[in-house]
Amino acid sequence: MANLARGREHRAPDYPIEPLFLDRWSPRAMSGEPLAEAELMRLFEAARWAPSTYNEQEWRFLYARRDTLHWPAFFALLMEANQAWCGQAAVLMVVLSHKVFTRDGKPNPVHTFDAGAAFENLALQGAAMGLVVHGMAGFDRDKARATLGVPDDYDVEAMVAVGHPGDPAQLPPALQARETPSGRKAVRELIREGPFAF
Ligand SMILES: Cc1cc2nc3c(=O)[nH]c(=O)nc-3n(C[C@H](O)[C@H](O)[C@H](O)COP(=O)(O)O)c2cc1C
Repeated sequence: MANLARGREHRAPDYPIEPLFLDRWSPRAMSGEPLAEAELMRLFEAARWAPSTYNEQEWRFLYARRDTLHWPAFFALLMEANQAWCGQAAVLMVVLSHKVFTRDGKPNPVHTFDAGAAFENLALQGAAMGLVVHGMAGFDRDKARATLGVPDDYDVEAMVAVGHPGDPAQLPPALQARETPSGRKAVRELIREGPFAF
């Protein structure tokens, strides 16, 4: 089994932070090995403890494990560019969010924000476990809703590929060059004390 490249060896923070934030990145090379049920549940457990408005916990995760009944339907949702590397994933997920408050059915303006927090928890847990966790916007949302029977009061947010790290040499050539932890804008480019002034 290949080891996940540690982001901290490729990335320099502007200010000191926990190395786990640097270690999380989005590789594409996966080995195709299955993920043990207990490992998968640890990822969902991490997501579970994300903060949310009124503790709504709006996130929902649908998933399919490789070589199981539901895999082909999940895989078929992906754009070709993502199918090119997701074939070796152990699990594909579709992240949903509940759009309305449980208590009164009124629109919840932060359902997407909260689902994103849950994804990041899951991704950080995966990084800590040496797993590939890769978020994806490149898939057919309408098809996901129809195929997976997602009701109208839930949004389809994103898909996620999860797997054990693999050999980058097995990726299509164009993706091999991108198989390294990326950089970031400077902190100072993203913040202003006071009103909007970017
Ligand atoms: C919501 C979301 C959607 C993304 N969509 C895709 C995608 O469809 N295909 C892909 O290869 N990477 C996708 N990515 C990965 C991003 O390109 C990646 O997170 C970004 O370049 C930062 O790199 P890092 O995650 O390695 O730090 C997505 C990431 C997120 C969070």
